[in-house]
Amino acid sequence: MSPARSRVEVMHGVNLDMLGRRDPAHYGLLTLADLERQVREFARELGLEVHFFQTNSESEFVEHLRELANSADGLLINAGAWTHYSWAIHDALEIAALPAVEVHLSNVEAREEWRRVSVVRDLCVARVVGQGVEGYREALVRLSKELDG
Ligand code: DQA
Repeated sequence: MSPARSRVEVMHGVNLDMLGRRDPAHYGLLTLADLERQVREFARELGLEVHFFQTNSESEFVEHLRELANSADGLLINAGAWTHYSWAIHDALEIAALPAVEVHLSNVEAREEWRRVSVVRDLCVARVVGQGVEGYREALVRLSKELDG
């Protein structure tokens, strides 16, 4: 059964539009369009409605977060490198006040030291890293439980 609250915004941050041209050892070979196709399919199976947003502009990312209150019930966030230092995105996520799951394609815990820091982590109900596209399925399952509860 679909959760009562089922609108999920999937937000991709800086350089995620370059999937397919980034190090395949970390990010695989899928393009962002391929990733979104897969995520749409995962969402359909879970009875969730997904919308996607990607930008390389931190201010656009922040503004989009601030406008989500009326259009989304929950959020999957992969802020790319901003994850590791953007307190502006942290604050905008706090303002959005939606249940959010942090997701990363690569295993940020096993790469450079600076990637282990996440400034959005404390605002998210769950975190999925290092599972590639499959990680988005897990993140949606986790979010769906949150929206159901
Ligand atoms: C990423 C990990 C970040 O450290 C990196 O800057 C990205 C992608 C991931 O999905 O693995 O751009 O968020």
